Amino acid sequence: MTDDEVRARIAAIPHWYHPIEVRPGIVTPGANAARLVLGTLQLPADCRGLRALDLGTRDGFFAFELERRGAEVVAVDYVAKTDTGFALAAELLGSRVTYLQRNLYELTAAELGTFDVVLFLGLLYHLPDPLGALRIVRNLTAQRMYLETLVLDFGAEMNELPLMRFFAGSSWAGDPTNYWGPNVRCVEDMLGESEFAARRVVRLGDRCVFACEAISSPAEAYYLEIATGRRVPESAGS
Ligand SMILES: C[S@@+](CC[C@H](N)C(=O)[O-])C[C@H]1O[C@@H](n2cnc3c(N)ncnc32)[C@H](O)[C@@H]1O
Repeated sequence: MTDDEVRARIAAIPHWYHPIEVRPGIVTPGANAARLVLGTLQLPADCRGLRALDLGTRDGFFAFELERRGAEVVAVDYVAKTDTGFALAAELLGSRVTYLQRNLYELTAAELGTFDVVLFLGLLYHLPDPLGALRIVRNLTAQRMYLETLVLDFGAEMNELPLMRFFAGSSWAGDPTNYWGPNVRCVEDMLGESEFAARRVVRLGDRCVFACEAISSPAEAYYLEIATGRRVPESAGS
């Protein structure tokens, strides 16, 4: 395929989210700050031997980057890969990333196994039950998880409290798929509740990256598994 043919196929995709270099000097026209986020994540340079999961992969920028670094990658999104730039980018890159058209809430470790590296980027605020989602993400994480999300400021005093604002309808950015805007403290507390420890927190304007490690907190895990229906209470108490 000539460069002009590649450009024509890229132009035929109605909307690109990620800027992906699919050939030297040919970059898809996504406006997302994926390069900036990638630098902030500080992913291992050598991912050979690692299993990686990219949740809400969209056009696949991060999934392809992990593959380039040697990881075996599974990418998940609830839209078809031909409805975004993923299918074309994968073809042009000769990618072998496994694409699963699935909802995050359906994913289980029993089916997929666990992953050494889990990317949970740009997705938390799209999920109606963010804490339940974090529990699912934890069940899929063997070691490291990277969370990137919108964060809100409620003022210095209120930011001491774990707060999250609900976005009814299309009230945030005109997008009906946005549900919640947490502050940093709220994300940190939800991470703790779902057996993650944020080892590095980097603020990027109204966004924030949390580089996390999977930890063990059996009591928190027990109550969250009960609350989200994955386990039944051990006694018939209250
Ligand atoms: C804002 S984009 C983020 C893309 C990429 N992760 C990034 O950070 O650059 C959110 C993506 O998550 C997907 N998504 C939203 N809710 C989802 C869900 N419940 N299960 C799976 N994918 C979901 C959307 O289709 C979209 O591709």
